[in-house]
Amino acid sequence: MSKPKILVARAIFLDIIDQLRTKFDVEVNEYDDIWTQDELILHLQGKQGALITSSEKIDAKLLKACPELRAVCTLAVGYNNIDVAACTAQGVLVTNAPNVLTETTADLGFALMMATARRIGESERFLREGLWRQWDIGFFAGQDIHGATLGILGMGRIGQAIAKRGSHGFGMPVIYHNRSRLALEIEQQLNARYVSKEELLQQSDHLIITVPYSPEVHHFIGQPELAMMKPTATLTNIARGGIIDEVALVEALRTHQIAAAGLDVFEGEPHIDPDLLSVPNIVLTPHIGSASLKTRHAMANLAAQNLLAILDPNSTPQPLTA
Ligand code: DGY
Repeated sequence: MSKPKILVARAIFLDIIDQLRTKFDVEVNEYDDIWTQDELILHLQGKQGALITSSEKIDAKLLKACPELRAVCTLAVGYNNIDVAACTAQGVLVTNAPNVLTETTADLGFALMMATARRIGESERFLREGLWRQWDIGFFAGQDIHGATLGILGMGRIGQAIAKRGSHGFGMPVIYHNRSRLALEIEQQLNARYVSKEELLQQSDHLIITVPYSPEVHHFIGQPELAMMKPTATLTNIARGGIIDEVALVEALRTHQIAAAGLDVFEGEPHIDPDLLSVPNIVLTPHIGSASLKTRHAMANLAAQNLLAILDPNSTPQPLTA
């Protein structure tokens, strides 16, 4: 019997590809080229499974062109690049990779928030440009982290892991806003208080966004929301770029409506709005939330195991987890 055909849409770890090759006829995007949507469709035609990242778009047009497809396994936790309803309608199972990246992504979120509050990007650029002449009292003075109020928008696994770092490690009072309130016991463990969106914006010293992207949260933080924040506040986004209105953010940073921002995700990534590059009080990283070697390997491995489970009739696939 011939092996099921699968596409590995990006050049992932060789040991995982070798494992997949034991069960599947595997095509890999070995050179890690960024494929156009048409190229992706071309490579996916005739395949039963796809191992993808958050860069590949699985939409209705692609699904129609790939009727043999049975499984789409992303190595990311976010799956806003996949039309799950269209997949379901066509009988294509979709899996994501929750849990394995929670702590690593929380580490990056916290690091980005700290770099933003303590102006690490600006001061490093200053030093590298050879501009350092003398120390002075207001020299790159930023905002404290310890004891400051940590606001979290989206209190899922990553939000809770950040709350733990802030509350237990840095003595930060934690406030959060989420679709639903956490159980009292978890709130107590995290020292976290549920507040309205308005209170979150008004009271946070450092606001961090971890909410998954959906059309309902598109531009959830725009001009009216930024206007509610403290002029000393920082805003960090490690979720998806579309949650913040970047034009309004640039304006808020230019006019010092808020102190600074840290962004790991962008609306049009990998294209970055040049206006974001022109403001000094911002720290920018290229979507590296889960980027530790160990975690990236675990993510790819989980996606591979899901693919194996779905295309092997004897095993049970893991359900999609928000
Ligand atoms: C995720 O897993 O969703 C990360 O943002 C990488 O895409």
